[in-house]
Amino acid sequence: MREDIIGRANVADTPEREAYYRRLGEAGAYALWTVANDLEPWFPQSISSPMIWRYERMRPLVLESLDLVKPEEAGRRVVALENPTRKGSSACVGWLYTGLQGMRPGEATSAHNHAAAALRFIMEGAGAYTVVDGHKVDLNARDFVITPAGTWHDHGVVAEGQTSIWQDGLDMLLINQLEANFYAVHPNVVQQSIYPNNDSPALFGGPNLVPEIEPWTKPYSPLLKYEWNPTYDRLQAAAEVWEGTPFDGVMMQYTNPLTGGPVMPTLGAYIQMLRPGQHTRAHRQTGSSVYNVAKGAGYTVVDGVRMDWKERDIFVVPPWAAHEHVNLSPSEDAVLFSFTDRPVMTALGLYREEAYAEEGGFQTVREIYSEPPLEDQ
Ligand SMILES: [Fe+2]
Repeated sequence: MREDIIGRANVADTPEREAYYRRLGEAGAYALWTVANDLEPWFPQSISSPMIWRYERMRPLVLESLDLVKPEEAGRRVVALENPTRKGSSACVGWLYTGLQGMRPGEATSAHNHAAAALRFIMEGAGAYTVVDGHKVDLNARDFVITPAGTWHDHGVVAEGQTSIWQDGLDMLLINQLEANFYAVHPNVVQQSIYPNNDSPALFGGPNLVPEIEPWTKPYSPLLKYEWNPTYDRLQAAAEVWEGTPFDGVMMQYTNPLTGGPVMPTLGAYIQMLRPGQHTRAHRQTGSSVYNVAKGAGYTVVDGVRMDWKERDIFVVPPWAAHEHVNLSPSEDAVLFSFTDRPVMTALGLYREEAYAEEGGFQTVREIYSEPPLEDQ
């Protein structure tokens, strides 16, 4: 793509040049100026689309998988959500993956381990559990749980529980792009829970207290489960004293209680409350986000596309796409859970955010660079 701007590639094809490009190709090379403008766009060019998967459509499909395939056949019996303009990529947006996993009472997955990080948001059911490196945690609706990179993990629903459905989120596609993924199956198929049940939330689940035990040296949160009830209590308490951000309402990050940072090095997660009738201002950010409607009904406008949502719907916001949220209820709050690759953006110095101003389009509100500019080093 040629651009008639000083500093950009603007080279017309001639028979002589085309013959030269062919000789470069034969030598395993190419002329940078033929592709430079595409390689370095002026701003992020996402090939993902705004998309919403409504639960009323997806739920029967997930339940159908329970009759069709056994978990031990599938390894992971998941209905995965794919972005309509990313067919074949397995991506729901950017390089994020998400899917819906259903499990009947008494069923369990085999234990495994991968270099990708994973998280889960429980959507319905009772008696679900996850075991992470021998730490077992019980899971109920709207609980958020992490299974960090490199941990042995498996999931199931106890025999006296109810059919459960949860959302899985992984960074495995990003890790595959970096050609850095590994996968292993646990030698015992199902790992033993070797610590007291729910020891992780009991020890690290706050409020603002961490135990004086052996130093935690792992790069992810020692708190594996973030329960819904205290999370919602915190949102309500914060809303009493804080109007929230103009773009996201009362938004809070799930954090590693030891560092205050994201729950895992590559994936972060947020919970946000929109007040009754609230309509936020539009902004855009680098990084991809996947939302799950924890409570309420409303809509989100993403690059001009309105997506109406209600409880348990999943929708995505592509990188650098302007988005604003609306809570349609005049009396009830709405709560959105989301996960994002923002920790990657921040760690690599790539995080940027712009607010939409009514006059003059976008204005930079925040640029975060993790490294000082070159001349200061
Ligand atoms: Fe996994």
